[in-house]
Amino acid sequence: MMPILDQIHRPLRDLRISVIDRCNHRCPYCMPSEKFHHAYQFLEKEQWLSFEEIERLARIFVALGVKKLRLTGGEPLLRPRIDELIRALSTINGAEDLALTTNGSLLTEWAPRLKAAGLRRLTVSLDSLDPAVFKQLSGDRGKVEDVLAGIQAAEQAGFQSIKINAVIHRGINDHTLLDLVRHFRGTVHVLRFIEYMDVGNQNHWDYKYVVPSSEIIRMIEAEYPLRRLEGTEGGETSERYAFTDGQGEIGFVSSVSQAFCGTCSRLRLSADGKMYTCLFAASGTDLREHVRQGASDTFLEHLISVAWMRREDRYSELRSQIRQSNPKFSKVEMYHIGG
Ligand code: GTP
Ligand code: 5AD
Ligand code: SF4
Ligand code: SF4
Repeated sequence: MMPILDQIHRPLRDLRISVIDRCNHRCPYCMPSEKFHHAYQFLEKEQWLSFEEIERLARIFVALGVKKLRLTGGEPLLRPRIDELIRALSTINGAEDLALTTNGSLLTEWAPRLKAAGLRRLTVSLDSLDPAVFKQLSGDRGKVEDVLAGIQAAEQAGFQSIKINAVIHRGINDHTLLDLVRHFRGTVHVLRFIEYMDVGNQNHWDYKYVVPSSEIIRMIEAEYPLRRLEGTEGGETSERYAFTDGQGEIGFVSSVSQAFCGTCSRLRLSADGKMYTCLFAASGTDLREHVRQGASDTFLEHLISVAWMRREDRYSELRSQIRQSNPKFSKVEMYHIGG
């Protein structure tokens, strides 16, 4: 089948499904604790897409060309019985990849069940190994040792190469990034440094907090020379490098300094069933409403295809212009669509 193409000829290939908007961390750059306190109104359970609804939609997306499925949150391991959803999604013919992004704090108890359910790949967020810095960046909720134990449990459960995401903020955790490099060098895991982005409207983002990948690469190369690896897997966000001494791989997600909108094949589904064509979209298309009113597969396919064919988003490429011309531009929140 010919893939459907958007306005700038990008095919639809990846679906990122947020399964819950809650999180047990309060990273100041995503869910600052002043705002997300005990009285904050998260979605009610009835508002979540059910597993049956998610599976049905995922099958439709796969029929439209999606090859990669990724579960996100908030924190996806907080969604009760998430392994049952994974088991259902792992049976979809044509879904070549099934991955999950987690903060890792509950991974020790979950890793074996995730593997048994058919999850293929795991990404764990870990911004620093320094306990005090980690504490600050998780909003005083997380512990480094839990995340490291979770990564170890995942290894033992049979996850072979885990991606470790570290978002770098100038003046906050950039002085600890070489410790992360030393820790994961020589392992099969792939550490990836992510440029801090202006997702959502809460995080007081400013260019001055962004450490461009080129600068991080220079810091690493002063100790450990790197060699650029050509070719990323389809739709991957990161540039890949290898340590020249054979001690493994490392990656950089440079969505601020080198936007990758040109090849962006990602669509996002929020926990309450809205579909977003960009991480920085202002609004989404409500699929849940139609699903619950008994829409046919054909109708849903039509709705999704039309949204994709109209798509012209490329926020990261236009960031400076958009921020200048419309500083109050309101975007969907990260914890709502899982990054
Ligand atoms: P794989 O390539 O499948 O391993 O995963 P990924 O890199 O798409 O997923 P991950 O959840 O690990 O995302 C890595 C970082 O890239 C996160 O900070 C995401 O928010 C960011 N990211 C992922 N997709 C996009 C995107 O479409 N646009 C932008 N600007 N950033 C993205
Ligand atoms: N900029 C860049 N990455 C972010 N993440 C969360 N918020 C931001 C942001 N503002 C990361 C998380 C996780 C991934 C899905 O997105 O740390 O690793
Ligand atoms: Fe939770 Fe991830 Fe947001 Fe941190 S970045 S608050 S771990 S969803
Ligand atoms: Fe895709 Fe939007 Fe990210 Fe660009 S900014 S890569 S269009 S999600």
